[in-house]
Amino acid sequence: MYKQILVCSDGSANALHAAEAAATIAEKFDSQITVLSVFFPTPLLASFGEAPEAAACMDTVMSIGEGQHDAIQAATGKVFEDRGIPVTQMREFGHPVDTIVSAAEEIDADLIVIGSRGMSGFKSLLLGSVSDGVLHHAHCPILVIR
Ligand SMILES: Nc1ncnc2c1ncn2[C@@H]1O[C@H](COP(=O)(O)OP(=O)(O)O)[C@@H](O)[C@H]1O
Ligand SMILES: [Mg+2]
Repeated sequence: MYKQILVCSDGSANALHAAEAAATIAEKFDSQITVLSVFFPTPLLASFGEAPEAAACMDTVMSIGEGQHDAIQAATGKVFEDRGIPVTQMREFGHPVDTIVSAAEEIDADLIVIGSRGMSGFKSLLLGSVSDGVLHHAHCPILVIR
């Protein structure tokens, strides 16, 4: 039980709280932890339309994505490192919900740990679109942390 945990992080306060919860479970169940960060470049690239500069911008966008992965993985990884828990990093590019759901299947996760809200500012909603989508589509149990 809870041998393979997927921790989803966008670097937000809730995602770091989720990481703390996952660490506590991992200590009890000796779980393997995978920290997943997803960068979604498509909305930005689509806004470039047919502009000739679009292809050249791709490299810049992808390097912004790598920088974002670095920052998220470092902040989230530290939560586990401070508690002596090894993690596997997973950095993906794509639609966050679809990518999280596929990654959970790929690593055969038996628990997904995710924050209730993330980086966007709509505090009146209980769940963000990513946590809501994952709750609807994932194959395994989900722990939502706020
Ligand atoms: N790009 C992402 N990669 C990995 N996990 C994410 C990503 N975006 C959101 N999450 C996870 O989903 C949780 C909820 O975020 P989200 O649904 O995006 O809310 P909000 O609308 O407030 O940004 C986050 O705390 C994080 O655990
Ligand atoms: Mg978000």
